Amino acid sequence: MDPNVLHNISYGMFIVASNKDNAFNGQIANTVFQITSAPVTVAISINNKNLTYEYIKDSKHFSVSILEEDAPLTFIGKFGFKSGRQEDKFKDANFKVLSSGCPVITDYSIAYLKADVIKSIDCLTHTLFLGCMKDGGILKEGKPMTYDYYHNVKKGATPPKAPTFIRGESRKIRPAGREALK
Ligand SMILES: Cc1cc2nc3c(=O)[nH]c(=O)nc-3n(C[C@H](O)[C@H](O)[C@H](O)COP(=O)(O)O)c2cc1C
Repeated sequence: MDPNVLHNISYGMFIVASNKDNAFNGQIANTVFQITSAPVTVAISINNKNLTYEYIKDSKHFSVSILEEDAPLTFIGKFGFKSGRQEDKFKDANFKVLSSGCPVITDYSIAYLKADVIKSIDCLTHTLFLGCMKDGGILKEGKPMTYDYYHNVKKGATPPKAPTFIRGESRKIRPAGREALK
């Protein structure tokens, strides 16, 4: 079996955010998919050890910010390689809070949606949250960043907690990507 096959599956780059009462947290996720159109439902795969997982379980809702190609590696590093348990990732970030209390990161984001969880599926290390879209809007013009662009143009890395992490993968990582891995 050649795990490099999996590099050919296409994804986008997103920040999934949620809240526990007045505390906010968010993380990078590439596993965000629209599942149905009427009603609009989306699925996200979130590692059970992430703080974002705890917040989604508690509030039963989440937002998805669609990242633009210009999002820098330092920004992705903060949300994708650090946990909200170590530092408040919202401290220096631009975000808005919806009437439901759900936070939405607006930095480097071209559009967002907010969904209410209608089903959670245990996938061993991760949980697949199925959400019904309740809100959303365009934030600015721009090109959405793809997972392929993140790897092959920005030379970013994927940490072990991401569902699409491949042990011993042969992709080249730029120093900034390696920095983010530490
Ligand atoms: C490119 C990239 C893609 C990622 N995709 C996912 C994902 O789809 N699901 C997931 O649970 N973690 C994913 N991660 C890892 C989380 O963003 C990371 O574990 C984060 O530190 C969790 O933060 P938290 O503990 O504050 O929630 C990804 C990270 C990167 C850099």
